[in-house]
Amino acid sequence: MNYHNSALTVVTDEVRPAALRWRSPSNIALVKYWGKYGDQLPRNASVSFTLQGAATDTTLHYGPRKSVGTGVAVQLYLDGKLEPKFTERTQAYLERLLPVYPFLRQLEIRIDTHNSFPHSAGIASSASGMSALALCLVSLEERLFAPLADRAAFYQKASYLARLGSGSACRSVYGSAAVWGEVPGLNGSSEEYAVSVADQLHPVFQTYHDDILLVSRTEKAVSSRAGHGLMEQNPYAAPRYVQANARTREMLQVLQRGDTERFGQLLESEALTLHALMMSSQPSYTLIEPDTLHVINRLRQFRTETGHPVYFTLDAGPNVHLLYPDTVGEPTKRFIRDHLLPYCEDRMYLADRIGSGPEQLEVNETTVA
Ligand code: PMV
Repeated sequence: MNYHNSALTVVTDEVRPAALRWRSPSNIALVKYWGKYGDQLPRNASVSFTLQGAATDTTLHYGPRKSVGTGVAVQLYLDGKLEPKFTERTQAYLERLLPVYPFLRQLEIRIDTHNSFPHSAGIASSASGMSALALCLVSLEERLFAPLADRAAFYQKASYLARLGSGSACRSVYGSAAVWGEVPGLNGSSEEYAVSVADQLHPVFQTYHDDILLVSRTEKAVSSRAGHGLMEQNPYAAPRYVQANARTREMLQVLQRGDTERFGQLLESEALTLHALMMSSQPSYTLIEPDTLHVINRLRQFRTETGHPVYFTLDAGPNVHLLYPDTVGEPTKRFIRDHLLPYCEDRMYLADRIGSGPEQLEVNETTVA
């Protein structure tokens, strides 16, 4: 896939200042992407649930740029405050997209972004943030030039652009569940963008909750970028990629079958394997905390006692995601309140669930620069 297009330039005098706005959710990987090569391409396939509550709301304001320079003129505001560090990163990202969108050089851009979850929650916002921005960019292309062939082409391009910002973000442009990476038998699957597998979900999985237990809200010591890099020398890397590809295929079958037990086995092994890879990197590191293990052990006890299909997963951090069907929602919420909140910083957790995907929003006065 090559989206490079030098013809996408504008006549600056004809550009009217305006804005576009998208809300895009985070996602939680069921089979993890860990290890990359080339230009943000994954070493293995991955599959995720898209969340509903944890999301980024991004407004992209644009107008003609008075004097066109070589780079991109952008400012990024988080919760109304100019953020020099994020501005720099966003500028670098948009400049990498210049072969795809040369018109970005001809505009003045201001990005206003808000996360639905507290900044201090220790939840990564790169998947929701990068997908929201990518969706704004493809909408901007459609507004300045012509609509893409159809909605499938729109989301495919947004997923491709999101991937260049943060790999896992490419899965957030689709509701309920998405696969990134080449999977034999999965039509259209690609390393360059994610595809939706929403239509393959058994009804039980459509009701899934994801409650995020905030074990620690301190920023992680080793970034995902560094973690992916360390996979290059990891002695377990090669068999891991084989395993993850096989598990992605199996997870898709499990999602179709509605097999909540096998789902849980794969889910938990994926979480622990991800952290085992970190522990076996050179240098090694740990992102889980003692309370992460307390939660896991207590959860396993709860499962033995009740038989409820409640399983955990972890992202690249100490917080624990509990995934379970709505049928066991009531006892699980009670269990969290009574037994797990003591392990959470400030007794905080975020109640989320599988979501319907990004939505384009009206630009209102509060979001206009
Ligand atoms: O998208 P990145 O580069 O931040 O990598 C994130 C990888 C994990 O979140 C740990 C797993 C995944 O597949 O989302």
